[in-house]
Amino acid sequence: MPSEIRDINLAESGLRKIEWVRRNCSLLSMLHDEFEKTKPFAGKKIALSVHLEAKTAYLCLTLAAGGAEMYVTGSNPLSTQDDVAAALVKEGLEVHAWYDATPEEYERHIRAVLEVGPNIIIDDGGDLVHMMHTELKHLIPGVIGGCEETTTGIIRLEAMAREGKLEFPMVRVNNAMMKHFFDNRYGTGQSVWDGINRTTNLVVAGKIVVVAGYGWCGKGVAMRAKGLGARVIVTEINPVRAIEAVMDGFDVMPMNEAAKLGDFFVTVTGCDKVIDEEDFVNLKDGAILCNAGHFDCEIDMARLREIAVDKAEMRNNIMGYKLSNGNWIYVLGEGRLVNLACGDGHPAEIMDMSFAIQALSAKYLVEHAGTMTEKLIDVPEEVDIEVAKKKLAFLGKSIDTLTHEQEKYLNESGL
Ligand SMILES: NC(=O)c1ccc[n+]([C@@H]2O[C@H](COP(=O)([O-])OP(=O)(O)OC[C@H]3O[C@@H](n4cnc5c(N)ncnc54)[C@H](O)[C@@H]3O)[C@@H](O)[C@H]2O)c1
Repeated sequence: MPSEIRDINLAESGLRKIEWVRRNCSLLSMLHDEFEKTKPFAGKKIALSVHLEAKTAYLCLTLAAGGAEMYVTGSNPLSTQDDVAAALVKEGLEVHAWYDATPEEYERHIRAVLEVGPNIIIDDGGDLVHMMHTELKHLIPGVIGGCEETTTGIIRLEAMAREGKLEFPMVRVNNAMMKHFFDNRYGTGQSVWDGINRTTNLVVAGKIVVVAGYGWCGKGVAMRAKGLGARVIVTEINPVRAIEAVMDGFDVMPMNEAAKLGDFFVTVTGCDKVIDEEDFVNLKDGAILCNAGHFDCEIDMARLREIAVDKAEMRNNIMGYKLSNGNWIYVLGEGRLVNLACGDGHPAEIMDMSFAIQALSAKYLVEHAGTMTEKLIDVPEEVDIEVAKKKLAFLGKSIDTLTHEQEKYLNESGL
């Protein structure tokens, strides 16, 4: 099936973005060269659904260099960059994605990359795996396994596994240390504020920022908000995480109290309706809302659109909603992942680590085809450590090594 993209003439701009990424992704470049020689994916079809911007494109090219036939789509209608999609087609990959796809188009694109009968699935949020297990079950026998990029996708996979419904092995890429320690915390921390700042062009210093969820991503978002000079309030449902937020110097309270105080709100929980109608009416006039969690359900956008008495687009990616109490509230990027819908996603050096883990996990699946008994697989610790060592070397940093005596001290009881 031919590619479905917006405009092949945009390829030049996309290729330049990918070249910038290549120059800043040392691990992926190393794997690209290695795969070019060893061809670990020769004869394999890979279907990939990840936010389709330049870092993802470089992952696709790395897998293609390893001999994979790549079938690529995005994982969110607002995060696809049309010039990057065009660049991949120019490089000979099959792509089905465009910016601002309707729900029907998005589903058609997902289906198109699966209908080729992939051997490996690379998913971000679980949409490919879900469709494979519902509408395209007949293609499951051809699947060796897959890799899942994000927390929300893992939650969906774990639910499927619990119910005995997951039919092929999936690697929990998100759970690798070299993924969530850095991608979720430092990647989301930086890119969320990049998205908010470039979209609003407003000052953060002196404002009150409410961060919903103090998980790996929330810690990064709160840390960077503090660095920008904001007063940060955290909302949580987990008492341990709430104490962690208090000890990190943040105020903690329920959303219905925080709603009255915040200037900026960032939801990053992976949960549903974290800011809902009860909160909308409590918000200050001019409050700015955005979401960094995977799905656009954390802010109850459907209800907000219903109760708004007026709406106006203020700037690109800022929609204002007027409530019956006269207050305007502003939502960035339609409540979709703000760092991707309103920005370029995580910094290249961060995705270098996440995607090195992705590429090595895909290689692991091919090498262990047919022998994996578990349906949920963690990235082997040695892969994590190897990626960390290589990244350190690229950063020009070295660390100490245990002496024989120290090893003895740590490993023997002395009894
Ligand atoms: N924007 C990005 O680029 C990006 C990157 C990585 C992950 N994600 C997504 O961000 C979300 C969070 O990921 P994470 O790795 O931080 O997960 P996590 O499990 O580490 O943290 C989520 C936190 O939210 C809290 N929480 C859940 N429901 C809540 C509610 N109703 N109110 C307040 N707090 C609540 C949980 O107790 C937990 O502490 C997921 O959807 C994940 O897929 C986004």
